[in-house]
Amino acid sequence: MTQKATNITWHDHHITREELEQLHGHKGATIWFTGLSGSGKSTLANAVAVKLHEMKISTFVLDGDNVRHGLNKNLGFSPEDRVENIRRIGEVAKLFTDAGVVNLTAFISPYAADRKIARDLQPEKFLEVYCEAALSVCEERDPKGLYKKARAGEIKGFTGIDAPYEAPEAPEVFVNTGEQSIEECVDVVIKALRGRNIID
Ligand code: ADX
Repeated sequence: MTQKATNITWHDHHITREELEQLHGHKGATIWFTGLSGSGKSTLANAVAVKLHEMKISTFVLDGDNVRHGLNKNLGFSPEDRVENIRRIGEVAKLFTDAGVVNLTAFISPYAADRKIARDLQPEKFLEVYCEAALSVCEERDPKGLYKKARAGEIKGFTGIDAPYEAPEAPEVFVNTGEQSIEECVDVVIKALRGRNIID
């Protein structure tokens, strides 16, 4: 994205990320959950956050439905708006990492290129978790009744129905949220965080 504003100057923070991490007692990182609507991203992100919180780790969950009520209120679900949605969240996630917080993002984030942009902002601190669940499982769950509406033609451009989802090819973590229990999925993510020394 090109820089629109001119006459702006970058100011270095007086307290470094390392100093903030020292205060927290752990590093900051982004755990980026991606998957279809109804695949269990938010449920898993929140369950992992609870587990981390119990371990005295500072967490924050950024969730698509919630962020769209505030910061991204002006965005819909056109391809352009989804790109902007993920661009902003990638930047916000990085800010949380810089604050020394383990942030967990739960957005469909359907385009591989956009996930890469988010990753490239903080490649050493980014853990992608692909929540794989078959469309039939998500549709069966249909927690918000949206698949039903999409099938009825009441919602246009619904991911998995008439809008694409580009599955990650090499995520750091893969969980089959369609078949594995939430506890199993939480364990897989926690192990991955340990494996990367994000937590002890
Ligand atoms: S993303 O594609 O831009 O990453 P995001 O995660 O923010 O999507 O929001 C997805 C949520 O918005 C879904 O879980 C669902 O509740 C709701 N939603 C409403 N319309 C759509 C749509 N056309 N496609 C997908 N999700 C939609």
